[in-house]
Amino acid sequence: MNNADTSANRGSLDELAAAVRSCTSCGLHAGRTNAVPGSGSASGGIMIIGEGPGANEDEQGLPFVGRSGKLLDELLAEIPLSREDVFITNVVKCRPPYNRDPLPAEVTACRPYLERQMELLDPKVIVTLGRHSMLRFYPKGKISKDHGKILEWEGRILFPLYHPAAGLRNPAIKQELQQDVLRLPEALRAAARIS
Ligand code: URA
Ligand code: SF4
Repeated sequence: MNNADTSANRGSLDELAAAVRSCTSCGLHAGRTNAVPGSGSASGGIMIIGEGPGANEDEQGLPFVGRSGKLLDELLAEIPLSREDVFITNVVKCRPPYNRDPLPAEVTACRPYLERQMELLDPKVIVTLGRHSMLRFYPKGKISKDHGKILEWEGRILFPLYHPAAGLRNPAIKQELQQDVLRLPEALRAAARIS
């Protein structure tokens, strides 16, 4: 995997991250310790999008650094990829209280940041983790039916996966995740065909 960042979009991503850290566009800013703009490669072609930061992420200002993140690292290692090869972020950049689902108004308020990240990163493959992230791209989707499918979305490949937290709660879902993630190379090949 080529993970040499092109400096042009790296700088813009860093500027965007600074804007996220000082953002007060929705109520979630009030409860945050740190905003979590996202991290990883600006040029790897893969963007992984979770739901929102949890307690560990809020403490460290980095995405997927708790138990879900450990499982995500293990899943990526099967490809093999590391988190430095991909860009990881969330639908909302500040932690919802008690890890509740983000409210539609919060998702809407935060949406311009995710959109700008997609513009800058121009990912070939968008991997969504969990239902909420999938619905952002595929409102009619059903995670139980669509997980692991290689779908097209606006000239990119959309590859919805279960959320690692669901895998931690349910061994059957963890198995599905382990099987699904093995199709990521196929998703990348599909992306090469449509781009
Ligand atoms: N769950 C998410 O959806 N995102 C994180 O960053 C961590 C846990
Ligand atoms: Fe701003 Fe998004 Fe944080 Fe809300 S969740 S305060 S919109 S960065």
